[in-house]
Amino acid sequence: MKTPVELEAIMAIADNGAFGIHQGLPWHIPSELQYFKSITMNNPMIMGYNTFKSIGNLLPGRDHIVITSKKIPTQEALYIVDSFSEACSVLQTLHCKKAFIIGGATLFTDTLDFCSLVHVSRIHIEPKADIFFTFPVDNWHCIQESDKIVDQKTAISYTLQKWKKIKGL
Ligand SMILES: NC(=O)c1ccc[n+]([C@@H]2O[C@H](COP(=O)([O-])OP(=O)(O)OC[C@H]3O[C@@H](n4cnc5c(N)ncnc54)[C@H](OP(=O)(O)O)[C@@H]3O)[C@@H](O)[C@H]2O)c1
Repeated sequence: MKTPVELEAIMAIADNGAFGIHQGLPWHIPSELQYFKSITMNNPMIMGYNTFKSIGNLLPGRDHIVITSKKIPTQEALYIVDSFSEACSVLQTLHCKKAFIIGGATLFTDTLDFCSLVHVSRIHIEPKADIFFTFPVDNWHCIQESDKIVDQKTAISYTLQKWKKIKGL
């Protein structure tokens, strides 16, 4: 399937693969959330229903396209669709240059192949989790990696990576 605009994914994964717990993140790292904000700002975000619920409200400056079979009322900046291809149809109407897939694990598993770039925050802790995710590095080439960053408020360290899809896969 050809997507109407360039798609990127953004995710954070702990050293033990921890990805989510109790419908939320297994950590709270303010500076990493700021990074998420800076990368996604002014671009549409596609997400699964559980991720939408875990965010809890609409994030400013970004259109939210939520994939679910549930009937949810739409509002400004909130689009409800029942498939990834319908999410792509919405993107066509938004006149954007790119969009972000922001999770969760179910949606990443289904759609990572459609992304050209993936932003991965490696969180250097090993927390408890009920959802784990492995980024499939074999199909991707790491084009950028930061030094270790230490969050001032939590002292948790993390590394920011950008992965480009290996052509021909
Ligand atoms: N670490 C990270 O970077 C990160 C990022 C995002 C989320 N999370 C965490 O991950 C957890 C949520 O992940 P999750 O895997 O449970 O849920 P999810 O992918 O957010 O949502 C799953 C639901 O979305 C819909 N859906 C997803 N993909 C679909 C597809 N291809 N086609 C049709 N419908 C689709 C379905 O909704 P219906 O059942 O309603 O039809 C499905 O049950 C939470 O703990 C969240 O905090 C972590």
